[in-house]
Amino acid sequence: MTAPIETLEFQSEARQLLQLMIHSIYSNKDTFLRELVSNASDALDKLRLEAFRDKELQADTSDLHVAIEIDSEQRTLTVRDNGIGMSRDEVISLIGTIAKSGTAEFLRKLKESQDAAASQELIGQFGVGFYASFMVADKVTLVTRKAGSDEGVRWESEGAGTYTIEPVADAPQGTAVTLHLKPVDAEDQLFDYTSAAKVREIVKRYSDFLTWPIRMAAEPTEEGAEPTVETVNSMKALWARASSEVTEQEYTEFYKHISHDWNDPLETVRFQAEGTFEYQALLFIPSRAPMDLFMRERKRGVQLYVKRVFIMDDCEALMPEYLRFVKGVVDAADLSLNVSREILQQDRQIQLIRKRLVKRVLSTVKSLDAEKYGTFWKEFGRAVKEGLLDDFDNREAILEICSFESTHDADKPTRLAQYVERMKEGQEHIYYLTGESRTAIENSPHLEAFQAKGFEVLVLTDPIDEMWVDAVPGFEGKQFQSIAKGQVDLDENQDEEQKAEFAGLLTWMGSALEEHVKEVRLSSRLTTSPACIVGDSHDMTPTLEKMYRAMGQQLPQIKRILELNPGHPLVAGLRAAHAEHPEDERLPETAELIYGMALLAEGGELGDPSRFVKLLANRLEQSL
Ligand SMILES: Nc1ncnc2c1ncn2[C@@H]1O[C@H](COP(=O)(O)OP(=O)(O)OP(=O)(O)O)[C@@H](O)[C@H]1O
Ligand SMILES: [Mg+2]
Repeated sequence: MTAPIETLEFQSEARQLLQLMIHSIYSNKDTFLRELVSNASDALDKLRLEAFRDKELQADTSDLHVAIEIDSEQRTLTVRDNGIGMSRDEVISLIGTIAKSGTAEFLRKLKESQDAAASQELIGQFGVGFYASFMVADKVTLVTRKAGSDEGVRWESEGAGTYTIEPVADAPQGTAVTLHLKPVDAEDQLFDYTSAAKVREIVKRYSDFLTWPIRMAAEPTEEGAEPTVETVNSMKALWARASSEVTEQEYTEFYKHISHDWNDPLETVRFQAEGTFEYQALLFIPSRAPMDLFMRERKRGVQLYVKRVFIMDDCEALMPEYLRFVKGVVDAADLSLNVSREILQQDRQIQLIRKRLVKRVLSTVKSLDAEKYGTFWKEFGRAVKEGLLDDFDNREAILEICSFESTHDADKPTRLAQYVERMKEGQEHIYYLTGESRTAIENSPHLEAFQAKGFEVLVLTDPIDEMWVDAVPGFEGKQFQSIAKGQVDLDENQDEEQKAEFAGLLTWMGSALEEHVKEVRLSSRLTTSPACIVGDSHDMTPTLEKMYRAMGQQLPQIKRILELNPGHPLVAGLRAAHAEHPEDERLPETAELIYGMALLAEGGELGDPSRFVKLLANRLEQSL
């Protein structure tokens, strides 16, 4: 009895992605072969490791390789491997769906992006893997058998809504993907992939460094000669070759292979250690942030090899979380092939390598030219700032590569070293203000006197800024100082006389506003506003407080300090009125209005907006 052919539907994201491939908006169609060969190579890696770990596994590992077969008559191209293979369920879940994080986001952006160039860039960032086949094929057949199992599976699809799946009796171990090629259309960059020369060229270009042999039928040398097979790639691990022998182009292709990024890397970092503990590292800083940089399930990009043998992807022991975008390979000589993630976390030598990698990445970024650095910061700055909280040892080095918006130049973020250079005579601190947007910060009353006196203030609007400013003591010995916190002494002339003059008002107002603030005092940070609200130096900022509350944290009410501008007519008038008729019942309302205005001015929210509006309406009425 033959088992039936089943027809199944692609998951909807997969269907959308396939549509894109079929209408192939991506112009570099040659890359389909890189994707297939890369999957085949992964499958060989997986089998070798599996066979090493499971001695019982019934699998032939004696001649692991990739074979590419061309049939010009049928117009098919087959990429075959004798690697790990897939079970029926795996075919359905791995090929029929896209499990990649960020898929929905990617598809949404793609829909929004109107022009072809933007779409191409997005596809490049996302990486479409196996589905790239449908750029060049109108039908794809995949036959696979999982190592250790004797049941084969045949999968076939034309890339529309469905695929078929059926058991096959005599499938060889591993996977063969056969593409039924679309007609050649050179104008659309759809070349003749039944041409052995073309296929060989693509393999050389994209996959030369793969450590598995990629075999193809050799060109017959003479009429009637026995057909022979040859290995197309040089199989030399790039990181193990002398750097003088490796071209820029080869590094780039290697980067694309391991990262699945279709763009060139921003920078390549290569180094090695010899002696008791030998290793080679080849790292890349991408030029674009991946879709999932800020998603929970994202991975880190460094692969671990042991003496050219692939051990694992996403080796978190080698790269800290905040540098998760760095891609590359570390090949260590003295580790066991059996190492587990848990062991790696504890391993002293791995910790030493990690230290070195981090230092090299940070120093590489530091030495990037202005243009590359600008790209780097735009793409990865937010992730890097997490390091200010996580990586105590490298804090200063991380600060050196950070940029921040500042009041110095609205269009250009500044490095801290440049800020320090511009610091005014006698200025001891690096001033900053955190807030939800640049506009809110620029209009904040706290900034007035700093602006007026020409002090530069960093404008920090990233949520993570709220966190690190509290954790990081300073840069080059200069402390960070929020201009909305603590005492600021910008006005040397605030005399004792004035203090005495306002003492009565301040005490009275403090008790009138007791519910809202813990103190009322005079300010030297205001020039035009009547009042502002500031925190104690260790208080949470309102934005941080809001963030914690949004995350569901229970916080006690945080009272801050109201500062008054003694030079403002409203404040001066209030002082006089209070001195004259301390019992006037309108005075507490005025105090409340001043407090409410200060809150609004910094972008805060009133506790009881309707009461504020009522008080204000009353006053306006009286002024008519
Ligand atoms: N030749 C193969 N042998 C075994 N499994 C395969 C093979 N080709 C694909 N797969 C499985 O199908 C999955 C999907 O492949 P696909 O190329 O789309 O994505 P990927 O390789 O995981 O990621 P990328 O987009 O980075 O290529 C792979 O992760 C792998 O598990
Ligand atoms: Mg792949």
